[in-house]
Amino acid sequence: MALLQWNDELQVHIPDIDEQHRRFIGYIGELHELRRRKNSLNAMGGLLNELLDYARVHFKTEERYFDMFSYDEASLHKKEHARLLQKLEDFKKSYDAQADLFLAMKLANFLSEWLEDHLVKIDRNFARQLLEANSPG
Ligand SMILES: [Fe+2]
Ligand SMILES: [Fe+2]
Repeated sequence: MALLQWNDELQVHIPDIDEQHRRFIGYIGELHELRRRKNSLNAMGGLLNELLDYARVHFKTEERYFDMFSYDEASLHKKEHARLLQKLEDFKKSYDAQADLFLAMKLANFLSEWLEDHLVKIDRNFARQLLEANSPG
């Protein structure tokens, strides 16, 4: 299965969110690249922490927008974010219990699918509603 890479079709046309998605997707490539790096098990721990922090920042950014208009799927969308954070924390726990590069590959694959699905089905719809709510006329 090919890992998700940034492409313009993933744009939601809200510049800060697009920029964050691009960076988020960058982490998938970095996880995958760990296979080729020296000291990759150590690097993996750092990367997991960064990824968790970045996911929190990104979800907060989106959720701040939720309150700016009457977004009908806000609670569902927040739940999806919370579920991903939980999942990332579970990966982190598994890593802490036993550092293993196979886990990095599993996470890269999982994130790849999750992000594509979430971007296309949920974020895009949210962005469309936000842009509509703010368009003049
Ligand atoms: Fe997002
Ligand atoms: Fe989202």
